[in-house]
Amino acid sequence: MNTTDPLVTVTGLRTTFDTPKGLVRAVDGVDLTVGRGERVGIVGESGSGKSVLVRTLMNLFRDDPYTTVDGQVVFDGENVREMSRERRRHFWGRDIAMVFQNPMTSLNPVKRVGDQITDPMRFHLGLGRKAARAAAIELLVQLGIPAPQRRIDQYPHELSGGMRQRMAIAVALSCAPKLLLADEPTTALDVTVQKQILNLLDRLVAERGMSVVLISHDLGVVAGRTDRIAVMYAGEVVETGRPHELFRQYRHPYTRGLLNSAPRLHGAKHARLDVIGGLPPDLTALPPGCRFAARCPQVQPRCLDERPVLREAGPNGHRSACHFPVGTPSGEQALAHNRDSGIAAVVEEVAS
Ligand SMILES: Nc1ncnc2c1ncn2[C@@H]1O[C@H](COP(=O)(O)OP(=O)(O)OP(=O)(O)O)[C@@H](O)[C@H]1O
Ligand SMILES: [Mg+2]
Repeated sequence: MNTTDPLVTVTGLRTTFDTPKGLVRAVDGVDLTVGRGERVGIVGESGSGKSVLVRTLMNLFRDDPYTTVDGQVVFDGENVREMSRERRRHFWGRDIAMVFQNPMTSLNPVKRVGDQITDPMRFHLGLGRKAARAAAIELLVQLGIPAPQRRIDQYPHELSGGMRQRMAIAVALSCAPKLLLADEPTTALDVTVQKQILNLLDRLVAERGMSVVLISHDLGVVAGRTDRIAVMYAGEVVETGRPHELFRQYRHPYTRGLLNSAPRLHGAKHARLDVIGGLPPDLTALPPGCRFAARCPQVQPRCLDERPVLREAGPNGHRSACHFPVGTPSGEQALAHNRDSGIAAVVEEVAS
């Protein structure tokens, strides 16, 4: 991992959708770097802006008249938002590739899966038909797909969900991109297959020395598979750091909430311990202060007026955006005060 020379640098990224209901601030001032060979996790509730962030990173909104993007994305020294149409055709697939939550989104239903893997190899890498087919079969073997010679000529609907997702991964890996974006790549699958596929992805990515951005609403899924995690809330990164710091010394009350609401592997089955009450704010009418304030058990008057920014919160790049961080004297005081005065109960009631 070489973080002094990052592969991707995102600075002040903002993505706004012009909708009949108003301007939706889906991504609102995100800074993020991905080092070469680094695996970065992005975690947050539904609607926090994870997918919009990686789609903006790929420059997918470029021709959308209802979407405004501000800020900068530099990929391997190149300004992504200024790429020509011609350059983008090689950027997508060759430099950067995406695995979507639902493989039917990435796979073309009316095209044999083999062609979907070999077409980019021929287009980007200039391989001949035979060489591409051989490389595709080799890739399917690495992905643990039985009878690849037969599978390669099938259509997506002839495959099981797990097999389809393996094929979608094969398409994404076909040209060994420098960066793989995996947007909830396994949530549509059952738990055993999920684990197999995530482990497979880990191995293939490590063998190729690729960088990865792995998105999930579940901190547990990304914890053991990433070098760094960014927690998103209402379009912002509210805490970032290595998995170790995020699990042991989290500073943001939202991160604590996410951790507490994750189902425990060794606890009582199906027990969701402590779901964060309430809903994220309306992205068309964001509050001036902290966006988590309405749901935060240690909220203080300052939180309603002043928007907290990411500040150093610990070693190894641990940063958090909270005026009264968890585990610090001011955070503990705020929590105790709200508990004693009954404010915490009111917040919980309003949030639920
Ligand atoms: N094209 C669009 N036009 C208008 N609003 C959009 C558009 N795409 C996304 N949004 C809104 O932007 C916000 C962020 O969406 P996004 O898909 O990034 O969330 P997410 O974190 O990926 O959630 P999930 O975990 O459900 O996938 C949501 O409120 C969503 O409704
Ligand atoms: Mg999403």
